Amino acid sequence: MPSPRSVPPTPDPERPTAGETDRISTRPADAQSMDDLLDAARDAMDAAYTPYSEYTVGAALETSDGSVYTGCNIENANYSNSLHAEEVAIGAAVSDGHRSFERVAVTSGKRDGVTPCGMCRQTFAEFCDESFEIITDGDEPTVYELGDLLPNTITSEHLDK
Ligand code: THU
Ligand code: ZN
Repeated sequence: MPSPRSVPPTPDPERPTAGETDRISTRPADAQSMDDLLDAARDAMDAAYTPYSEYTVGAALETSDGSVYTGCNIENANYSNSLHAEEVAIGAAVSDGHRSFERVAVTSGKRDGVTPCGMCRQTFAEFCDESFEIITDGDEPTVYELGDLLPNTITSEHLDK
């Protein structure tokens, strides 16, 4: 793993339970704290449909204009076409007209520091530059940059040459 940027722990805020926050919220990008984004990911995770792996994931994706779109993983009996939380979040954002993103928070609810898988990293790389931030939920929140987690990947620029 590339060395992540560690962020000091903050006291556990009282977070609302599932259903108390809207799936989409809008606020100025700089006012949206990392903890708020992680809380939104945890709330989204509560809706995960994971009868097979029982591994729940939630993602909260912040757009460049400060909107937040969330997603959870949704599994399938055929196992192979389960939707990942990050895919669901970016799908909701793009289908709502967004193409520019600042950061995403991802959680499994276990504080295991899970990061987006390779497929989801590539999905982010379609829309996000290398400085796009990936906030993970470990013993303390940790921030990675997409360029560190998925260096030198194919983008539309390659296809344009
Ligand atoms: N999962 C995600 O939602 N995002 C990832 O990037 C990693 C994996 C889900 C898929 C499956 O439902 C469960 O986690 C176990 O792999
Ligand atoms: Zn994934």
